[in-house]
Amino acid sequence: MDTWKSRFAFLMAAIGSAVGLGNIWRFPYAAYANGGGAFLIPYMVAIFTIGIPLLIAEFYVGSVFRKSAPMAIKEIDEKAEWVGWLGVISAFIISIYYAVLMSWCLCYLFHSLNLVWGNDTASFFFNQFLHLSPSPGIIGGMNAQILFALLFIWASIYLILHKGINSIGKVVAITVPLPTILLIILVIRGITLPGADMGLEFYLAPDFSKLADASVWLAAYAQTFFSLSLAQGIMILYSSHLKEGSDITNNAFITALADGGTAFLAGFAVFSILGYLSYQSGMSMGEIARGGMGLAFITYPAAISKIPFASFFGVIFFLALLTFGIDSAFSMVESVAGSLSDKFKIKRERATLLVVIVGFISGIFLTFGNGMYWIEIMDYSVSNFALVIAGLMECIVFGYIYGAERIREDVNNVSEIKVGKAFPFMLKYFAPIVLGILLLASIVDVITNGYNNYPSWSIFLGIMMVFLSIIASLWLRRIKCQEEQY
Ligand code: ALA
Repeated sequence: MDTWKSRFAFLMAAIGSAVGLGNIWRFPYAAYANGGGAFLIPYMVAIFTIGIPLLIAEFYVGSVFRKSAPMAIKEIDEKAEWVGWLGVISAFIISIYYAVLMSWCLCYLFHSLNLVWGNDTASFFFNQFLHLSPSPGIIGGMNAQILFALLFIWASIYLILHKGINSIGKVVAITVPLPTILLIILVIRGITLPGADMGLEFYLAPDFSKLADASVWLAAYAQTFFSLSLAQGIMILYSSHLKEGSDITNNAFITALADGGTAFLAGFAVFSILGYLSYQSGMSMGEIARGGMGLAFITYPAAISKIPFASFFGVIFFLALLTFGIDSAFSMVESVAGSLSDKFKIKRERATLLVVIVGFISGIFLTFGNGMYWIEIMDYSVSNFALVIAGLMECIVFGYIYGAERIREDVNNVSEIKVGKAFPFMLKYFAPIVLGILLLASIVDVITNGYNNYPSWSIFLGIMMVFLSIIASLWLRRIKCQEEQY
């Protein structure tokens, strides 16, 4: 089995997987919508109570069993193999739409050169760029530009992955520091613009009354959980390539804090420039701030257009998104390919090619006029249901079946930072309870409120996708491969 050439290579790969598109557009908006500066409190609590404990457990399981997630979990309990598969299937679903989002970033990188979006960035994004159809049920036309960009993204993922773990180590040495530097440039540019203070106040002014609201805590846990690439088989697979006796806890702390720190920094880049837009246009910050895709593809381009050297900063922003995103994207694909090759004894390179081809073909469906709707529905369903179920089950398998105390003892033997009794408490009681509440709250919420005014049949299909992922995971567990029968 190949091992990482250095601890640095492993850390960069883990940080690269964690830091992604989610940090740039999801975190700043989640912070703003959930109490501004006060959101940092539940966010930090979430990192320390679930993020780091589960990351430690995943790093540990990977490094001890030296297998992909489903096969490593199978070593703990044969019946639990499906938990690993559920995470892997979730990673695959995410990679399908994540690559499409990255293809949008690639197109926008070129569009930045001549600021083709003009004055009405919303109309450009929805009409000229996406050819958005009126609803998820109306397919609309295919978008050739996005399709070509998607092909390029998947081809890049294949080229990075096909040579195995060492080429990942080389790529992440560039794709982690580079976007961080670009982000710092954007922060410096942003905070030196007039009006930046208004934007930053909007982002950070604490509304402590929000801390009494359970949904704010749930949002913080959701953000941490998904951003740290937990329960997707990724961190287990990456740590399976660690040399024996490698540090676990310090690596987990560094990864989690780098992820949280980048998200926090991204907030400065985004909101300072939105403050400038508000100053220029006279619109209030409340009118300007948008969540999700609108932030990156509508509001940010509108703000960039108004600063000197607009094209330069446009290119920097979308290049940062692309380079932040690529290592998250290939980590998901690697998790799927690694698990398939582990279970079915297919050559890794072939498994990668298979995942890339199926991922690309599936993504084609999202390049049509209704693609954006389905991206939102897929993201909502996987993030709020599949990943939470996989994470909850991991806590049970690692905490109870394998034993949280045993993990604690073992990681303390090899790590610089020693974890105390809080670790087993978090893994066995706190994390599963919070994830259980998160899941129940999401179920109640989708039944009572639906999601973003989407027709109920479309949400039903999203939830069915999660349900089918669980069935497929259970089915994959039952398949016995030749080697396994002996
Ligand atoms: N963890 C990755 C992100 O935040 C997927 O984008």
